[in-house]
Amino acid sequence: MPGTTRTQVGIVGAGPAGLVLGRLLEREGIDAVVLEARSRDYVEHRLRAGVLEQGTADLLRALGVGDRMDREGLLHAGIELRFDGTGHRIPLADLTGGRHVMLYGQTEMVKDLIAARLESGAELRFEVEDVALHGLEGNAPSIGFRHEGVDHELRCDVVAGCDGFHGVSRGAVPADRLTVRSREYPFAWLGILADVAPSSEELVYTSHERGFALHSLRGPTKSRLYLQVDPGDDVEAWSDDRIWDELHLRMARDDDWVLHEGPVLEKGITPMRSFVAEPMRHGRLFLAGDAVHIVPPTGAKGLNLAVADVKVLGEALVAFLRGGDERGLDAYSATALRRVWRAEHFSWWMTSMLHQDPAAADDPFAVALQRAQLEYVCTSEAAATSLAENYVGLPWARRTLDAPMNRVPRRMREERG
Ligand code: APR
Ligand code: PHB
Repeated sequence: MPGTTRTQVGIVGAGPAGLVLGRLLEREGIDAVVLEARSRDYVEHRLRAGVLEQGTADLLRALGVGDRMDREGLLHAGIELRFDGTGHRIPLADLTGGRHVMLYGQTEMVKDLIAARLESGAELRFEVEDVALHGLEGNAPSIGFRHEGVDHELRCDVVAGCDGFHGVSRGAVPADRLTVRSREYPFAWLGILADVAPSSEELVYTSHERGFALHSLRGPTKSRLYLQVDPGDDVEAWSDDRIWDELHLRMARDDDWVLHEGPVLEKGITPMRSFVAEPMRHGRLFLAGDAVHIVPPTGAKGLNLAVADVKVLGEALVAFLRGGDERGLDAYSATALRRVWRAEHFSWWMTSMLHQDPAAADDPFAVALQRAQLEYVCTSEAAATSLAENYVGLPWARRTLDAPMNRVPRRMREERG
């Protein structure tokens, strides 16, 4: 075949998972090829989330792609939970020993990673078609694809499926080898990007009887806002005026806080779902990021989980490809899934606490439980700390069940006298 080439790791997809993995391997001298179905322009302008956990930001710095993030991103030490017309600050950094989140659009992070890869000369092809994975169960997998009208075969040691929820990689695993667990939510998010300075310095998560609303930001002159809407809603039914009216109603605070309006630059509706496919490996195929799990956006975990997966996978690949040590690869799925399920729970929990479930509207018990949960998180240091440590991101290496807590936290000791 005319286009037969070889690499160590064939990476399908140039989203955060594929690009961070590519960068990690490049820094360790491992050869990889990244294949992306869309154009560079499309990938660099796709509007996505933008909250980086402390560990994600630190990893980008360590990989030499954190300079612009440190210049233009915004370091946040807290978030606001708003309900009943009052805002309650959760001081993330104070509750987690000084850990922060970084507000930096995923789109910007993707641009930085693409620029770094192209500058280094490492291979990255956009607009590839008909990607198909072969020989995954043997030791010599390959990726077939078409690029600029030419058919190619890329022979690899390992394939990394980083092609998002609608990619081909997950589908290359026989259905009877994957266990899927999922949940659909009876709502969606309508998101807008507005050309107006943020109305709040920190993120505001609002629970209101008309539905959830979120105020976020993209730099000093752009606001990113979201509304809970019906999953069947057509975006055309939401005029700019209707969006602003609804945001005002839901986000109103009893004091003099005001929501600033500005031209709407982009708007779109995203469904919300939780989804996990296990295991994250099939032979020589390793799945990472949205290709294998989805979280609802409320906890801001999607991007961070994708990066966490490839951090674990990248280190395992280096050990394997340098010295033939397969232990990391064998442990990859179980290691990654521990973090995935923690994030699945956290995202589900944040979503349930803050949204209005249409089915629960006539259920006063459910409404009162939700209110009690909100009040608890905003008044108990223990409950707020749980939210905070998940939000800023749990450490890469966490305590395991066979190494139980043997130390009573300082606060509990003091309270016990
Ligand atoms: N061949 C090659 N590339 C593909 C194919 C294919 N058949 N199918 C999809 N892709 C590409 C997509 O165009 C996209 O650029 O794979 C990439 C997957 O990127 P993401 O969807 O961003 O997924 P991931 O890298 O896992 O990042 C997860 O992104 O979707 C958000 O909310 C999500 O923040 C989370 C993060
Ligand atoms: C965003 O800024 O796009 C954003 C912030 C917080 C979330 C989700 C999205 O929970």
